[in-house]
Amino acid sequence: MLIKIAKTNEISAGAMKRFTVRGKKIIIVNLEEKFYALDDTCSHNQCSLSKGELEGGIIICPCHGARFDVSTGKVLALPAVKDLKIYPVQIKKDYLYVEI
Ligand code: FES
Repeated sequence: MLIKIAKTNEISAGAMKRFTVRGKKIIIVNLEEKFYALDDTCSHNQCSLSKGELEGGIIICPCHGARFDVSTGKVLALPAVKDLKIYPVQIKKDYLYVEI
């Protein structure tokens, strides 16, 4: 199901923002005007990744430092071992939509 999330200009370049969509917490990341959506909950111990840091295309968990690739959700560094789920993003008339 395609769900309208926000206007594209609500998330500045190089930033991420958390949204709750149908009870699911996701983050939208704006990397050089390309948008990605993935789970906000760290697969290690459930910390909110939106409180972490974004370094280029990598999200660093604020709790224990696991790293994830923003575009694929893949784990890049321990202690997490499970990838994050990613969601397709579409842009229509300046609005972001996520396929949940
Ligand atoms: S909760 Fe994210 S690394 Fe531990």
